[in-house]
Amino acid sequence: RGVAAATPDLAGRRVVISAGGTREPLDPVRYLGNHSSGKQGYALARTAQARGAEVTLVAANTALPAPAGVTVEPVGSAEELRAAMRKAAAEADAVVMAAAVADFRPANPVGQKIKKRDGVDPDPIALVRNPDILAELSAARRPGQVVVGFAAETENVLAGGRAKLARKGCDLLVVNQVGGGLAFGTDENEAVILAADGDETPVPLGPKEALADRVWDAVVRRLPTP
Ligand code: CTP
Ligand code: CA
Repeated sequence: RGVAAATPDLAGRRVVISAGGTREPLDPVRYLGNHSSGKQGYALARTAQARGAEVTLVAANTALPAPAGVTVEPVGSAEELRAAMRKAAAEADAVVMAAAVADFRPANPVGQKIKKRDGVDPDPIALVRNPDILAELSAARRPGQVVVGFAAETENVLAGGRAKLARKGCDLLVVNQVGGGLAFGTDENEAVILAADGDETPVPLGPKEALADRVWDAVVRRLPTP
């Protein structure tokens, strides 16, 4: 289905989506980051808006045009993304974590640019765990709120996805196999939508918009009737 022909089955619903990848500061000019483009999250925002939702897009370090009619909140680190998501989720009917959140951050970011010194090897970078935002949002969900996660796996996609879904406590987990050029930065994706209620919906390789629409189909089916 094209976006223009979308039925307004998300009218009157508020949705919040995270997109992109977090950056964890080492010093004022350097960070640990990842290759997430944000394209899948932006496709989710566009399709939800086209289906009538009021959309907040928490965008971590993306370089994509802001979708028309969508509220975009730029964030940098996982800590900033967490704060923005918690705030927006408190008012949302559905929450989708499509962002790639760094699992670890530098333990001791410094306020001045790190300098090299002749003949001195650099110190190793000590890391600490970031909070699991999806697990937190799932644990704090409002009655009837639908919480969705994404997972890219390189092996044991379905079994690993099922275990991750249970661990996170979300309603839906969209899992896809990575490697071989799929997913990062591309315009297409192939996935399986796993549901906590046991449902399993394979989505064939196609535009990220098409996968986004299948995710909203699964969300709409689980939202309480208004
Ligand atoms: N996620 C999150 N907070 C984190 C890490 C991940 O909210 N600190 C979310 C991601 O946005 C995604 C989902 O959890 O929706 C799954 O991410 P993934 O990296 O696959 O899960 P992890 O629990 O970090 O497992 P792994 O050790 O395989 O990376
Ligand atoms: Ca991870």
